Amino acid sequence: MIEIQDIYKSYGELKVLSGISTSVEKGEVVSIIGPSGTGKSTFLRCINYLEEADKGTISFDGQKFDLADMDKKSIKDLRAHSSMVFQQYNLFLNKTAIENIMEHLIYVKKMGREEAEATAEKYLATVGLSEKRDSYPGQLSGGQQQRIGIARAMAVNPDIMLFDEPTSALDPELIKYVLTVIRELALAKQTMLIVTHEMRFAREVSDKVLFMEGGKILEEGSPEQVFEHSEHARIREFLSLMEK
Ligand SMILES: Nc1ncnc2c1ncn2[C@@H]1O[C@H](COP(=O)(O)OP(=O)(O)O)[C@@H](O)[C@H]1O
Ligand SMILES: [Mg+2]
Repeated sequence: MIEIQDIYKSYGELKVLSGISTSVEKGEVVSIIGPSGTGKSTFLRCINYLEEADKGTISFDGQKFDLADMDKKSIKDLRAHSSMVFQQYNLFLNKTAIENIMEHLIYVKKMGREEAEATAEKYLATVGLSEKRDSYPGQLSGGQQQRIGIARAMAVNPDIMLFDEPTSALDPELIKYVLTVIRELALAKQTMLIVTHEMRFAREVSDKVLFMEGGKILEEGSPEQVFEHSEHARIREFLSLMEK
């Protein structure tokens, strides 16, 4: 189980996260929804230490990290628990599909090349892209690049996968293939935290939904609770705008 407590983050005067606390059970899929600029990406980035939070703790099965007091070793340990799937894929453009996954395994897991290659091949197959093994990102569609991004994140076998609007840069017809891969991960009980604007998908795939606004969690509950019975007029308004 992952417990996140009281995360604060400011950029200068701008308060972006004002005390975020939540927990994610093993095998759970938690979606984060909410308007732009409310700190959703910053929150995910703090979990993976791509951003340095000002305050807060994260614990993985009781192994606790104090985000205000991190050193090189604890940063490395914290990062090893999660892996991120980015909106803009963040693949190395000068490396092939398989090399992108392998390099990550070699860097994060200190795997030897042979084991990294076999592992990368396995995850390429999982996302249905074995035949694109030696293609460069520029030779792949956005949807295929994102599936490589997902394979790269899965390959390190993280405790939790963090998705930051994984489909928002994609054309509508490509979105469904990426969502299918994420759905399969959910069925396989991969623990995930997903920032998304795909409301129908969030509702269908999530065990829990967080609505974030102004650097805080305004509501946290089952999809049914948040999507159908929210007591917050603000959430009902946001959802009705998203449906249009
Ligand atoms: N590196 C940064 N420096 C300064 N401000 C930032 C930085 N990253 C994000 N912000 C600001 O923090 C706020 C929250 O951003 P973000 O976490 O990207 O929101 P969301 O993902 O919900 O759209 C925004 O006002 C954004 O402009
Ligand atoms: Mg964002």
